[in-house]
Amino acid sequence: MERKELFHEGKAKRLYLTDDPHYLLMEFKDDITAFDGDKKSEFPRKGEFNNQTSAFLFNYLESYHIPTHFVQAVSDSAMLVRNLKMIPIEVVVRNIATGSLVKRYGVEDGMTLSYPIIELFLKDDSRHDPMINETHAYAFGHCTPEQMRTIVRIASKVNAVLKSFFDRRGLTLVDFKLEFGYGEGEIFLADEISGDSCRIWDKKTGKKLDKDRFRHDLGDIESSYEELMFRVLNKEHKPD
Ligand SMILES: Nc1ncnc2c1ncn2[C@@H]1O[C@H](COP(=O)(O)OP(=O)(O)O)[C@@H](O)[C@H]1O
Ligand SMILES: [Mg+2]
Repeated sequence: MERKELFHEGKAKRLYLTDDPHYLLMEFKDDITAFDGDKKSEFPRKGEFNNQTSAFLFNYLESYHIPTHFVQAVSDSAMLVRNLKMIPIEVVVRNIATGSLVKRYGVEDGMTLSYPIIELFLKDDSRHDPMINETHAYAFGHCTPEQMRTIVRIASKVNAVLKSFFDRRGLTLVDFKLEFGYGEGEIFLADEISGDSCRIWDKKTGKKLDKDRFRHDLGDIESSYEELMFRVLNKEHKPD
C-alpha cells in the first residue's frame, strides 16, 4: 500500500494516508514525551521498539478475538492500521497501585489491587487529561452507552489476556492506557500498546521497563525499551 500525505502528527507517532481511505500508515517516532508533553526527548530506535512491541501485542489480542486496528507491520517502525474515527477518551486499567492513583487516593505504592480499576480520562493535553465518567462521555457526544459497554468489555478482556501473557514472560502488567475508535459501525482497539502506554515491571527484580524510566530519570531508557520488546517477542536479548 502506497504512503500518501501526512494526515496527523502526534507526540509519538505520525499517521499517513494511503491509496485506500480505509487504512492509514502509522509511523512510530523516536520522540518520547511525558507530563502531557511538557517533558520531551528522543532516543534511537525507540520507534522500532514500540512498533514491534505493539504489532506483536495487537496480533496476539486478535488471536483472542479482540478487534484491533492493526492490519500488518510494514517496516521496523511502521504498521498499517484501520482508519478510525477516534473517541477522545483514554481508558486506563490498573492492577497495581502506582503513579497518579497513589497521589489521588493515598493508597500504598506497589499495592496489588483486589479488583482491576478502570478509569476514563478526556484526551486533552491542554487540560491535563481530566478524569471523567461515562456520563461525561455521553453528554459531550463522544460515544453512546452501548459503545461504552463495548469499550469497557474489551478493556477488561485485554487486561485478562495481557496480564497472563506478561506473567508468562516473567513480567507484571501494572497498568496500561487504551484508546478506541470506530469504523463501519464497530468499535476497535486502536493507538499502541508499548512501553509508552503500559507500566511493566520485572517480576523478580521489580525493574521498570516502561516510560517511568523517562518520567523519573531512572536511566537505561533505550536498553529497557529494547529489553521489553525482546521479552514480548520471546527472543533472546543480547545487550551490546
Ligand atoms: N486507527 C487509528 N485511526 C485514526 N487515528 C488514530 C488511530 N490510532 C490512533 N490514532 C490517533 O493518532 C494519534 C497517535 O499519535 P500520538 O503521537 O500518540 O498522538 P498524541 O500526541 O495525540 O497522543 C492519536 O491522536 C491517536 O488518537
Ligand atoms: Mg499518544
